[in-house]
Amino acid sequence: MEYEKLTVVDLFCGAGGISEGFRQNGFEVKLGLDFWKPAIETHELMHPESEHVLMDIKKLESAEDIDRVIPDVDVIVGGPPCVSFSHSNRAGKADKTEGLNLIEVMLRIIAWKKENGGLKYWALENVPNTKKYIKDKYTWEELQLPGDGPDLEVKKKPVYTAADFGVPQERDRMICGDYPDVEKTHDKKDWITISDVFDHLKDPIDGTDVETIEDPCYDLKLKKEEVTDHFYDTRVHEVRWKRARRLKEDHGYMGKMTFPEDPDRPSRTVMATRSASTREALIYGVDLDGDGGYEDYRLPTVREIATFMSFPLTYQFEASTESKKYRLVGNAVPCKLAGAIAKAIAEEEGMAIPEGYVPFEHEPEPSLDLTGRGENKRKPRKRRDDSKFARHVPYMKIRGFRAEIDNKESDFSKDDVVWTTRLHKGQGRHALEQVIEDEHVEGLVDSTIAGQPTLTGFDEDSRKATDIDWRAFLDDLEDTFDDKLPDAETFQQIYVHRGDGEKYGPNKTLWKIRSMIDEHLPKDRFEGVEIKNEGVLDMDVESVPVRIVAGIVACQYVTKKVDMGG
Ligand SMILES: C[S@@+](CC[C@H](N)C(=O)[O-])C[C@H]1O[C@@H](n2cnc3c(N)ncnc32)[C@H](O)[C@@H]1O
Repeated sequence: MEYEKLTVVDLFCGAGGISEGFRQNGFEVKLGLDFWKPAIETHELMHPESEHVLMDIKKLESAEDIDRVIPDVDVIVGGPPCVSFSHSNRAGKADKTEGLNLIEVMLRIIAWKKENGGLKYWALENVPNTKKYIKDKYTWEELQLPGDGPDLEVKKKPVYTAADFGVPQERDRMICGDYPDVEKTHDKKDWITISDVFDHLKDPIDGTDVETIEDPCYDLKLKKEEVTDHFYDTRVHEVRWKRARRLKEDHGYMGKMTFPEDPDRPSRTVMATRSASTREALIYGVDLDGDGGYEDYRLPTVREIATFMSFPLTYQFEASTESKKYRLVGNAVPCKLAGAIAKAIAEEEGMAIPEGYVPFEHEPEPSLDLTGRGENKRKPRKRRDDSKFARHVPYMKIRGFRAEIDNKESDFSKDDVVWTTRLHKGQGRHALEQVIEDEHVEGLVDSTIAGQPTLTGFDEDSRKATDIDWRAFLDDLEDTFDDKLPDAETFQQIYVHRGDGEKYGPNKTLWKIRSMIDEHLPKDRFEGVEIKNEGVLDMDVESVPVRIVAGIVACQYVTKKVDMGG
């Protein structure tokens, strides 16, 4: 028997990777919720039939709030940002605000809607590491729901590799929930590789003599002029790619990485932050004269990473800079991976499943198309505007470690200012460094929250790991910087003395961070305490001083906030 379309709510919808996977399989996306404007604007552009809610999901506190905002649907999906160090401190007091974290907010909505809104299926996506933090079962009480109700069972599923589902990317993700088992669609030998993607999309610099472009993941062909965010120059300056090459190749036993990327494999995991001079950077060789050798190196275009995420070529991203578009795409759940779950549900429900690519009924136009940008490059800005900034938390060098914020990943010629957190150790030829992403911060901090013995130099008789109150530190970060951080461009302007007097620039921010660390982790008590690096950082170090970890937690909070618009 055939049913009508099943309905979906996408929490933490981002650019809508999950929504698109479900739409391609015949579902109707009823609502997307996110607290980042470019995410909601992208979702709105691509899924205009849905409702859109721009809000902090933590504000859905009561069952009434949930029912007011979230409609009753058949399926709830969501990819909360990876398990966060703001996770409640379970050894601490069961304070209501502490107990709430983003995953639990999502589980609370699910438990409520299962019991009161006819919800049939749900799926929660995250990095594989999160598996160990999610319990098998949550009681009604734990989820802070009113009255009585059954426990919410969380079915653990295998960790999926996106490439097994027709995604040109070796991205591993866990997706727990309540949905039928999914089937792989691609064996390793059928994996879609970087060169398959490049052959289809053509070279962004000089592939312009073609008329049509074919999508490597869908049965879809576009006129070249219709392909957005692709034909532009992403070459990187020699100083930057050489730095990346050294960090990838000269890293001792921590593993030599391929430089440039191996085109015969699917892409490595696309991160949310675009970088050109780091170990994590995705860098490709450019064969300018066609002799098979590389004369230059470049980054992926936004369209290329979107294809690595299996977004169809017709999918558009609504944001004002390249780095924001990059974050929208890098944060996404690959559509084809989400689509595999959608398909399993549709089959179980006997729903009609579309065959092949499902076109959009409208013609979405983004307000910024990066294609062609190289041709009308703006004049370089005045020296002062593009001044480089790279400073660590003041007077805080411990065993050579420094927590730094910098603007090195910016491309000032394109008005694209990006702030990055970097951990440094040592100086000169043997200096080590690493760009910090959320997952590094969380990996280091979560183990101490769980009270696990990952600390060294600790006087266990007088203190416990849980004496480090990360929750209070995070709350203080939020209070200190609430309304004080501008967007990335203004942060730069304040640095070059032309900013908004109300807001903080990078120098003031670093001093504020320093005071917070002194208050929460005073030097006399915490100087010798270190957190072990159990494979969280690529950097070849056994442990990191806890005051430095606090520095990177705070710097990462700040750089992410300004990069997302303040
Ligand atoms: C991993 S991304 C989700 C990607 C999305 N599932 C996709 O497939 O494109 C996480 C999203 O959660 C949003 N987010 C983080 N914290 C939030 C909060 N407290 N309330 C609402 N949205 C939040 C971020 O803005 C980001 O877009």
